[in-house]
Amino acid sequence: MKQFSEKGVSRRIFLDYSIRALGAFITAAVGVPIIGYVISPVLAKSKKEEWVSLGLVEDFKPGPPRAVEFTAFVRDGWIESSARRTVWVTTQNGKDFTLFNPHCTHLGCAVYWDANDQKLKSPCHGGVFDPVDGRVLAGPPPRPLDTLPVKVEGGNLYCQYIDFRLGVTDKAPI
Ligand code: FES
Repeated sequence: MKQFSEKGVSRRIFLDYSIRALGAFITAAVGVPIIGYVISPVLAKSKKEEWVSLGLVEDFKPGPPRAVEFTAFVRDGWIESSARRTVWVTTQNGKDFTLFNPHCTHLGCAVYWDANDQKLKSPCHGGVFDPVDGRVLAGPPPRPLDTLPVKVEGGNLYCQYIDFRLGVTDKAPI
């Protein structure tokens, strides 16, 4: 009789462990994907934007920098939206390209092309930049214009848009 009772207890313990293990398995199977879904937009926030085509390479001739506008797909946390972007494209030979973020590195005003002076300028506090390499020629900007990743593929010029911290000497993506 005593032996039967011990068997009954061990069966109960086994059943209890089995149910707990099954519960843990179901919780993990359901919980892990949910956690991944919830935190993935936050993790993705720090990623760069997708590569965007700016047009045919042959349309970019050596000469003054050219402002190119495009619409970018932007994800900020759980919010998805589109945003208008501008980049300045410059080339000396029609093969190698430099792309500038359009924001003055001082406080972020959008730079413009001064055709008379042949310089990129900030409209705010007298910032002046070299149109070839973006270096500061005058004013308070703490660093050159920020260059952006660029590539040529299938005859098209592609840009990866990034914004950077303003008012500091280091080029730090935000
Ligand atoms: S924002 Fe360009 S010089 Fe201040």
